[in-house]
Amino acid sequence: MTAGVFVTGTGTEVGKTVVAAAIARTLAGDGRRVAVFKPTVTGLEDPGEPDHRLLRRAASSEQANGEIAPYRYGPPMSPHLAAALAGEEIQPDRLLTAAREAAAGADILVCEGVGGLLVPLSPDYLVRDLALDLGLPLVVAASPGLGTINHTLLTIAVARQAGLGVAAVVLTPWPERPDQIEASNRATIEALGEVKVETLRHLDLSNPTAWPPLRLP
Ligand SMILES: Nc1ncnc2c1ncn2[C@@H]1O[C@H](COP(=O)(O)OP(=O)(O)O)[C@@H](O)[C@H]1O
Ligand SMILES: [Mg+2]
Repeated sequence: MTAGVFVTGTGTEVGKTVVAAAIARTLAGDGRRVAVFKPTVTGLEDPGEPDHRLLRRAASSEQANGEIAPYRYGPPMSPHLAAALAGEEIQPDRLLTAAREAAAGADILVCEGVGGLLVPLSPDYLVRDLALDLGLPLVVAASPGLGTINHTLLTIAVARQAGLGVAAVVLTPWPERPDQIEASNRATIEALGEVKVETLRHLDLSNPTAWPPLRLP
């Protein structure tokens, strides 16, 4: 399997896409050929740019939609439910094949998960299982504010219990002047999670070339 990272998060809407995009942009800016991958995209019927498009822009990739995200659904819901309503079941083998094909055309693969680690892709195959099968280290996107210590440490615990390595946590969007809670959250997660905690400031998503690099340990 190719080198890469698997960006998960403490839940949905916590910054996974932005963190994955920032990592992809950093690698592309360094001259690496970056492939991006997102096992399933749901919520295509919502307004706004879908995840696979932002990932592709950030990576300067020319992958087709289906090469980035083999399963795409309109309703904003858990992938296993969106698939069921479309009359199908997400096939783990198809995901693994698609991820490997994406990786084969690049130097490095940046994969964004769906929701958090325990979200089902099919009734008996969770995001955690895909990360394990891909053999990629995790990056955990998390919010900076109140509540994040518990969510982040739970995610790290589930990851390590499954045998997944956690390369870093990224708190996003990180404010220009962190308050006492945010600064303490960063230090506390680092200490109790025994993990490197990076931060990502608010980005103008329309212009990836202006983003600061996000380098992982
Ligand atoms: N560093 C950041 N800069 C700009 N917007 C951010 C940043 N971090 C999070 N956001 C915003 O927070 C929301 C959720 O982020 P997103 O990456 O889509 O989450 P997820 O992929 O976990 O569902 C989006 O509106 C996104 O633009
Ligand atoms: Mg996302």
